[in-house]
Amino acid sequence: MKKFFILFTIAGVFVFSACSHKNSAAKVKPTTYNDVMPIFQAKCGPCHLPSKGGNKHNLELYATTLKLGADILKRVEMEPTQRGFMPMRNPKLAEPELAVIRKWVADGLLEK
Ligand code: HEC
Repeated sequence: MKKFFILFTIAGVFVFSACSHKNSAAKVKPTTYNDVMPIFQAKCGPCHLPSKGGNKHNLELYATTLKLGADILKRVEMEPTQRGFMPMRNPKLAEPELAVIRKWVADGLLEK
């Protein structure tokens, strides 16, 4: 039993180091504003896009988007029936879009 454990540990270390060597650049790359901005452009307009005439909190600039930070995630994870849900008067974002925003927040709201 003990031998098995040791064997598994060694195998585990092996697999782990193999993974972290291979395409580490692609895997470690954090999600940034460049990744979430297209979602805001597509789903938060015109209200939050001054270039489209929106007068709500500006999501077209990193600096102003950053001010809302995790509140953005809170809003888009609400259900459409809840007060404060975003995007207002629109369907809930798709799960892959939510996942990108979730990761952006988890990675520290980076610009790029
Ligand atoms: C139809 C217009 C409309 C759309 C589309 C819309 N919003 Fe909003 N948003 C508003 C309005 C109006 C407010 C202010 C009222 C409030 O805070 O609930 C607001 C407020 C917010 C706030 C709080 C701002 C603050 O100053 O505290 C966040 C965060 C937010 N929206 C995120 C989003 C995100 C992210 C999207 C796109 C996924 C989105 N909204 C789409 C109209 C919209």
